[in-house]
Amino acid sequence: MILEGKLGHIIVERNALSHLKEEVKRLNPFKVCVVTDRNVGKIWFEEVSKKIGLGEKVEKFEIENGEKGKSLSTAKRLWKKLIEEKYTRKSLMLALGGGVVGDVTGFVASTFMRGIYFAQIPTTLLAQVDSSIGGKNGINFHGKNMIGTFYQPSFTIVDTKFIETLPEDEFLNGMAEVIKYGIICDRKFFDFIEENVEVLRKREAKVLQDVIEKCVKMKVDIVSRDEREEGLRRILNFGHTFGHSIERLSNYRIKHGFAVSIGMVLACKVAEKITGFEQTRDVIELLKKMGLPTLTKINLYRIVEEMEKDKKAWYGRTALVLPEEIGKVSVLEVEREKILDALKNGV
Ligand SMILES: NC(=O)c1ccc[n+]([C@@H]2O[C@H](COP(=O)([O-])OP(=O)(O)OC[C@H]3O[C@@H](n4cnc5c(N)ncnc54)[C@H](O)[C@@H]3O)[C@@H](O)[C@H]2O)c1
Repeated sequence: MILEGKLGHIIVERNALSHLKEEVKRLNPFKVCVVTDRNVGKIWFEEVSKKIGLGEKVEKFEIENGEKGKSLSTAKRLWKKLIEEKYTRKSLMLALGGGVVGDVTGFVASTFMRGIYFAQIPTTLLAQVDSSIGGKNGINFHGKNMIGTFYQPSFTIVDTKFIETLPEDEFLNGMAEVIKYGIICDRKFFDFIEENVEVLRKREAKVLQDVIEKCVKMKVDIVSRDEREEGLRRILNFGHTFGHSIERLSNYRIKHGFAVSIGMVLACKVAEKITGFEQTRDVIELLKKMGLPTLTKINLYRIVEEMEKDKKAWYGRTALVLPEEIGKVSVLEVEREKILDALKNGV
């Protein structure tokens, strides 16, 4: 599948990397800086570099693995390298990695010389179905994602073969976002995932490919209609307001997708009281079947209190994405007392 539009060229295929050379050629970059982390660099850099085929014009820049890599110090090191190695405005920064690499690379590409070419090769399931699409980037600074910009890549190459080397918990991390799409906008997709849980967990190539394509399409559709998150795009935050709070309170020991999984269940519980949502059981069952958590030991009062710091609250009140039924959600501001009341009997 190839999509073209204001989010750049997006190629989702089993062998999408075969398009890399022509996509780079189209930009005709002066130099190419491939940003990756140690894990991904070790496994995939050589192949990607060969596919670009520009010899010494291609350089590797490795950042720290995990959330620590998304820091101001990484951004500074990158800016410095670009200046020292005489990168120009006609150079390309290529993110090869998960959401961490994508976010920091996009941020640096958007700010260096007021913006140079940027492209993405997402290598985690989460990055393929979510973070590489839509143009949001950022670094952590006195809080997660506090500094960042909107900046669309010229192209995004989603090659499902990267998923083969992904550790199991990283795979499940992305699956939480996959299930999210079903709940927020497509009942049939939710049912499809339910019917294919076992096959998906085995990473069967064809089904996985179909699922990733479907998610990319849904994200492109939503973001194209609301690039700056003024309205519709907010529905992508389903489970995330609770989720971010859980991540923070666990000191990021609970992974994003796992926290979102628990967050989606909490949002469903609140929705029961506010929108009359009746399918919390179905959501919990699917998450459990997939191997995702649905409960947390963290105190609910603390989670709700922490949520008030969320930067997605526009006027200081907590905005929640609440399902009305599977496949349909709305964004509502809900008072703390109502949230706590809805959750008081547990999940
Ligand atoms: N910009 C957005 O719209 C957006 C959306 C969602 C999440 N995010 C951000 O994404 C980040 C999380 O991204 P993530 O879950 O991809 O985590 P990540 O980038 O930290 O990658 C997870 C781990 O998997 C390893 N890895 C990546 N690809 C691999 C592969 N193919 N084989 C083996 N190992 C591999 C990495 O080295 C890392 O250790 C967070 O910082 C989050 O804020 C951004």
